[in-house]
Amino acid sequence: MNQKNIMNIKIIKFFTFFSLVFSINYLYSAEGGPCKDYGECDKFKYSLNDMESLQRGASTFLNYCYGCHSLQYSRWGRVAKDLQIPEDIFFDNLIFDKSIKAGDLMTGAMVDEESAQWFGVAPPDLTLVSRVRGDDWLYSYLRTYYEDSSKQYGVNNLVYPGTAMPNVLAALQGNQKLICKNIPILASNGGEKRDDLGNTLTKEKCGFLEVEKGTGTLTKDEFNNVIYDLTNFLVYVGEPAKATRERIGWYVIFYFLIFTALSALLYREYHKDYH
Ligand code: HEC
Repeated sequence: MNQKNIMNIKIIKFFTFFSLVFSINYLYSAEGGPCKDYGECDKFKYSLNDMESLQRGASTFLNYCYGCHSLQYSRWGRVAKDLQIPEDIFFDNLIFDKSIKAGDLMTGAMVDEESAQWFGVAPPDLTLVSRVRGDDWLYSYLRTYYEDSSKQYGVNNLVYPGTAMPNVLAALQGNQKLICKNIPILASNGGEKRDDLGNTLTKEKCGFLEVEKGTGTLTKDEFNNVIYDLTNFLVYVGEPAKATRERIGWYVIFYFLIFTALSALLYREYHKDYH
């Protein structure tokens, strides 16, 4: 092999390495932005093959969100089919407007000009919100409302401070407040600091979310599950073919592996003739 060929191979290796590093980096940074006053967003792992979760999410969306927010790039029939809900059950139980047909877009029930007057901002369409804001952001946003009497609806949000959206799920979650807590002071070695008598030293820290007991119809875990399913549904709506795309992706990688093995064997076979 001459000098030039060796140089070329080095360049190819260099670029392959860097494109790999960059694509891995991209995969991990493709999430939504940071969650403002909440700090790091809670992690959300979607499960688009869990039909029951998606069905529950769709039902929550249609009952609690669709009154204000449209999903104007989706069609009713497609959602019913993808979520494996028989059309008659879907139409009888989840759609209140009987003039709607399977092929119609989910354009929402509200007129933008009116709602802009009521809320100051028209509730945005949510078809692509999981892709614009990120799944983690959504999952955190819907769980971080807290009471704040200085605001129009008496609530504010840690992830979206000053949001014009009322806390529409308050009846389920209960009254969430920001509270202060005494937390142990940590020493530089990571252990808790203690005084001479062995009592743990604490300091007051504020900004923790806590739901007032008995004010919501759901427990904390049940409420988290409702928001999980709702977010899962919004991730599905943002890209209905995502589950199929990911499944096909694995087939393609599998095919490449087999194909690589076969061509390696073929190469070995041909190579024998050279000697
Ligand atoms: C009473 C009307 C109303 C209802 C019901 C409602 N929203 Fe909203 N929503 C709004 C308004 C108004 C905004 C705009 C807030 C702003 O930008 O300050 C908003 C904003 C949002 C946003 C932020 C979008 C963005 O990118 O800025 C999300 C996400 C959202 N709503 C999700 C939901 C979900 C999920 C539900 C159902 C649980 C729901 N909303 C129910 C009125 C509503």
